[in-house]
Amino acid sequence: MKVALGVTGCIAAYKSIEVMRGLQKAGAEVQVVLTRSAAEFVAPLTYEALSGRSVILDMFRPELNRDIRHISLAQSIDLLAVVPATANILGKMAHGIADDFLSTLYLSTPAPVLIAPAMNAEMWRHPAVRANVETLRGRGHHFVDPEPGMLACGIEGDGRLAAVDGILDRILGVLGGERDLEGLRVLVTAGPTVEDIDPVRFISNRSSGKMGYAVAQAAHARGAGVTLVSGPVSLPAPAGVEMVRVRSAAEMGEAVMRLFPGTDIVVKAAAVADYRPAEPAAGKIKKGEGAKTLSLERTDDILARLGREKKGQVLVGFAAETDNLLDNARGKLTGKNLDLVVANDVSRGVFGEDEATVHILRRTGETVTLRQRPKGAIARAILDLALEARRTRGAEAP
Ligand code: CTP
Repeated sequence: MKVALGVTGCIAAYKSIEVMRGLQKAGAEVQVVLTRSAAEFVAPLTYEALSGRSVILDMFRPELNRDIRHISLAQSIDLLAVVPATANILGKMAHGIADDFLSTLYLSTPAPVLIAPAMNAEMWRHPAVRANVETLRGRGHHFVDPEPGMLACGIEGDGRLAAVDGILDRILGVLGGERDLEGLRVLVTAGPTVEDIDPVRFISNRSSGKMGYAVAQAAHARGAGVTLVSGPVSLPAPAGVEMVRVRSAAEMGEAVMRLFPGTDIVVKAAAVADYRPAEPAAGKIKKGEGAKTLSLERTDDILARLGREKKGQVLVGFAAETDNLLDNARGKLTGKNLDLVVANDVSRGVFGEDEATVHILRRTGETVTLRQRPKGAIARAILDLALEARRTRGAEAP
């Protein structure tokens, strides 16, 4: 297990020493890579003395790096962790600038990347930084977001490096095949619902269930106990996941409300009918002369009810829209009291595809866009952000 720990220049740089020590205790081999400005905050000798190995300092001073080359390191690591990450390194990573060892290592490694930013609250809020963070999240990198608190510049706000223990947990989670949902119960809904008109006919929709099934599978792979409440689809049940098969919106609502109290994260990917036939016929409806009118009544909005009744659960809703995608999605985020909403544009026949473009809207106002990505990758990003929402809430608790 080999980690490259990139340290960039800000006041929180000294905390990377604890991260390095924690990783070593957990049995990881750690190669520290300091940027030039990080070395202004913490002397390279500190890392060298504590880790017993030389620190990589600067690409253009080979005498400091002895026989280490960025390409060989890039190929040998299991993870690149940048702790703390300044606004500057986020900008360089987002835009592919390689002007020192760390930024060059980033471009040349196939390993997963974890980023723990720390900076002044104004900088963290700046649109340029927000855009860079979104770009990097869109590449599937893991973020441990900064926490609110007193900053070195003397003001309160978001920007303080996350707690070292939380960063270590995430790093070890990613290294250990991401068992970071161990101990959590995740409830996923998937597929369409089917509303009977009579014993022969029904109203349904084009949902294939692929997104919800991908979320259930990804959550199980990361150690969660997963229950999947599924409408009728033609997908195999994901291994290790408890299945509850339902047909109608009412059946789905009943199953979800029963399971909700013991759940930590709910991902409502199902396309639930908003209306059902008011009086389904017991026998087959026979045709007659002229037009026929079908009377429909509203179903309960399951997600809105979860939003009203939630007690600490993280709620993830979906917004399938053909018009005003982001505005409508934001309306659902606040209107249904969700933590995240996954918005997808369904005007171009995306049902049943293996890839999708989605915008994940967070309560913080930030939007993460994933373009034409496999549904498995989108599922993992949703779970990352759901965990992040859970952590941030924990950090806010008294
Ligand atoms: N949803 C639900 N119960 C319903 C309808 C929808 O739980 N009766 C959930 C879906 O699972 C999804 C989210 O609400 O996570 C959004 O569903 P969508 O149909 O896109 O939006 P609605 O809120 O129903 O609003 P509208 O149909 O007006 O767009």
